[in-house]
Amino acid sequence: MPVMRPAIVDDLPALTDIYNHYVVHTAITFDLRPFAPVERRAWFDDHATSGRHRLIVAVDVDGTVLGYATTSRWRPKAAYDTTVEASVYCHPGAVGRGCGTGLYAALFEAIAAEDVHRIVAGVSLPNPASLKLHERFGFRPVGVFRGVVVTAAEQVQRREVSPQSRVVG
Ligand SMILES: CC(C)(COP(=O)(O)OP(=O)(O)OC[C@H]1O[C@@H](n2cnc3c(N)ncnc32)[C@H](O)[C@@H]1OP(=O)(O)O)[C@@H](O)C(=O)NCCC(=O)NCCS
Repeated sequence: MPVMRPAIVDDLPALTDIYNHYVVHTAITFDLRPFAPVERRAWFDDHATSGRHRLIVAVDVDGTVLGYATTSRWRPKAAYDTTVEASVYCHPGAVGRGCGTGLYAALFEAIAAEDVHRIVAGVSLPNPASLKLHERFGFRPVGVFRGVVVTAAEQVQRREVSPQSRVVG
């Protein structure tokens, strides 16, 4: 059974590796290139061991980081202060074994006494595991943003077709 604890800066390379896996192999992060750990330091520092914005890691008995979950600022304007956005990533070798559930349980317990009015989450579709996890914790669908992102593959496709488009145009 993994241990859930607040992240420490020594976890950053492992957290970056997990995130980069999903950047490179999926379209779920909305980032288009992998990061070096140092580039994720500001993101790491946006979370603390108190307050609304937390970063919890799941760690195996041998110390391997199996995943992480965060609450982060949702939008910059002041009236959104008490809304947080939740996010969770498990190591690709640790999915489907309760890691995500354990992380969210620990994360939401950690912020239970904080002044949080609403927790939101964004899930790129399709992602049945993520939808199930969020439903399990009481999230309900409120809407779908369509056509708001262009993935790396689509960008390549656009670059490939654009010279022809210019000739035609
Ligand atoms: C989404 C994710 C965090 C879920 O964590 P997990 O450890 O794999 O999921 P759990 O084992 O805790 O299961 C959570 C629920 O999802 C269900 N589930 C898990 N994998 C599933 C799958 N592939 N398809 C459908 N449901 C699935 C489980 O049955 C469980 O439902 P239950 O509570 O009704 O039993 C994890 O799969 C992951 O990191 N995926 C890649 C990154 C990602 O998509 N992050 C979310 C971005 S919004």
